Amino acid sequence: MNLAVFVSGRGSNLKAILDNQELKSLIAVKVVCSNDSECNAIKLAESKKIDTFIIPKIQDEKLVDELISFLEKRNIELIVLAGYLKLIPPSLVDKFENKIINIHPALLPSFGGKGMYGMNVHKAVFESSAKVSGATVHFVNKEYDKGKIIAQRCVDISDVKSPEEIAERVLSIEHNLLPFVIGKFALNKIEIKGNRVFILD
Ligand code: GAR
Repeated sequence: MNLAVFVSGRGSNLKAILDNQELKSLIAVKVVCSNDSECNAIKLAESKKIDTFIIPKIQDEKLVDELISFLEKRNIELIVLAGYLKLIPPSLVDKFENKIINIHPALLPSFGGKGMYGMNVHKAVFESSAKVSGATVHFVNKEYDKGKIIAQRCVDISDVKSPEEIAERVLSIEHNLLPFVIGKFALNKIEIKGNRVFILD
């Protein structure tokens, strides 16, 4: 299965995908796209000789069309948002319906939406006094963090002393959950029935 991975920052989830042994025979990361040409994730892609595509701040329809044809030319079958912090243009969502997934560092539908990314999420979870947090992989639609939930894993945070500690625990879950879900897509083991998504054995 041909993948495009969208990134904005550190790139630890991209690394987890690229390093995952089980995925090696199932997927090929054909392109890494980012809004930030200088970010660590883009540097990682370049060091692995993976094609990159930089999405400028101001997007017009022509540029989105360019991005779509770039992805189509490479026969991209799944787009994975791995720490991509911008909204996906509606025409891209339409073109890749049920083929764009995102990892979110909390248990949706709580702690999601515009502005809820990275440490903002963990700070909100910490302040909420919640005892569990976790990671969610979901389909991407036209609203931030609102698409159907595919998979979630949770972690006990009852003893944490800071948002940073939550971030660390959640991130280690993310690095397993995202490759697991990608593997299921590659094996055609994801089934959508109405508003629910099933992962088959
Ligand atoms: C990850 O924790 C990811 O869940 C989060 O950004 C981080 C990126 O880390 N994404 C969001 O907050 C999206 N709303 P990484 O660049 O090391 O993979």
